[in-house]
Amino acid sequence: IPVDAFDIIIFGAAGDLSLRKIIPALFHRWRDSQIPDASRIVGVSRTEMDDEAFRKLVYDSYRKFNPNTEIAAEEWTRFSSLLHYRAVNAADAEADWSDLSALLEQRRDNLRVFYLALPPNIYGAVAANIDSAGLKTPDARIVLEKPIGKDLASARAINDGVGAVFAEKNIFRIDHYLGKETVQNLIVLRFMNSIFEPIWNANAIDHVEITVAESIGCEGRASYYDTAGALRDMVQNHLLQLLCLVAMEPPLNLNSDTVRDEKIKVLKALRPVKLRDIRNISVRGQYASGATDGEVVQSYEAELERGSNTETFVALKANLDNWRWKDVPFYLRTGKRMSGRHSEIVVQFKDVAHSLIKDGAPPPPTRMVIRLQPDEGVKLLLTTKDPGPGGMRLRYVPLNLSYADHFEARYPDAYERLLMAVVRGDLALFMRRDEVEAAWQWVDGILAAWEADETPVHKYPAGTDGPPQAAMLLDRDGREWWAGK
Ligand code: BG6
Repeated sequence: IPVDAFDIIIFGAAGDLSLRKIIPALFHRWRDSQIPDASRIVGVSRTEMDDEAFRKLVYDSYRKFNPNTEIAAEEWTRFSSLLHYRAVNAADAEADWSDLSALLEQRRDNLRVFYLALPPNIYGAVAANIDSAGLKTPDARIVLEKPIGKDLASARAINDGVGAVFAEKNIFRIDHYLGKETVQNLIVLRFMNSIFEPIWNANAIDHVEITVAESIGCEGRASYYDTAGALRDMVQNHLLQLLCLVAMEPPLNLNSDTVRDEKIKVLKALRPVKLRDIRNISVRGQYASGATDGEVVQSYEAELERGSNTETFVALKANLDNWRWKDVPFYLRTGKRMSGRHSEIVVQFKDVAHSLIKDGAPPPPTRMVIRLQPDEGVKLLLTTKDPGPGGMRLRYVPLNLSYADHFEARYPDAYERLLMAVVRGDLALFMRRDEVEAAWQWVDGILAAWEADETPVHKYPAGTDGPPQAAMLLDRDGREWWAGK
């Protein structure tokens, strides 16, 4: 669906997120003729720079992050003409906004999208300053990067601050996992195939595992990361959003509020964490030195250049207190510097009621493995008879839907999809205020229990699957993390 020309004003334009993700995403959409040439990408940050210096910075960063993409010089020159830059200290109420304002006024009819790639504690101030500088047109939109705060209280303060200027329908809270192709497919898989829904519940499902493993470390973001940790950085948003999509009731349709109404019910059903259970339902870890992707890497503390008690790995057992998921645990884990980059959801079905093979081990349980990245795909792991003579020997084999085998090689990256959704005004892939706050409410319970309990942070060598305590979390329940391919 074509969109009208728009202006996107990126605050924090010289930062990592802007240069690594946002502007490349806009370039790719422009290159696919999705962004009209009368649109503008206006970078804003405190650093003094002119348009030309900004264009060079964007180009050099693009080359660094996308070394294999070919760009014709003429193509880049055309794209560059969309790029502008104005220096403003946006959090400062006294700052001079007149240059930026004059630039935006040149195309008053363009939809304005303000993208805050900034620390969340200044979101409210920046929104207020955008307003008092007279930049907010009636349908202007604001995009907020996660994390929205560091706990429920700070999230509420941010939502109040931004909400005082922008209506909820114009606030787009990004969780880029919702823009991933395979994450969107969860809804299609569950609700547009009739065979799953009747068995998608506690009668048939033993448990669910959600793993988001990364091989990277903190990548120069250690000063932010150390104030957050894996629970705030990944679980509060990405993993809980995945949990919502796996566990929610069928929505009536795909309208943004209908879907979000179902997701919030899941978040509200999360069993609050009790202090006395904290060590049975959570494991914290932090990477020591080791090797990932064939390279020796230093410890988290060495990267940070000081000691730290922040977790770079977390494993949790969550329960939903509702009818559908009674006594079905959801095991969540995520970490940096793990053995590889892989994100997947494993739905493990219950054992067969009765084994047909006398004295033999029961067949392994049926599993559905939804691989979010890399090697996107869905596998249904089934027990089959090993063909040939030799009696009833069993084999565990996948019915395999591999994206690489079935679909075109390139589909838009999450940021590309989300940015275009902002311009179209489609809120379905963004978090509503109540979702963010409900997620924090549950996470706050864990943070408080960790603090009161002084829950230890176990070291794990970089390049492994986290501390052994994470395996024990499932072992205690007679289960294991799925480690198959
Ligand atoms: C971000 C986190 O939200 O997601 C990062 O802040 C993390 O710490 C990243 O590395 C992971 O995203 P992806 O798309 O690479 O899985």
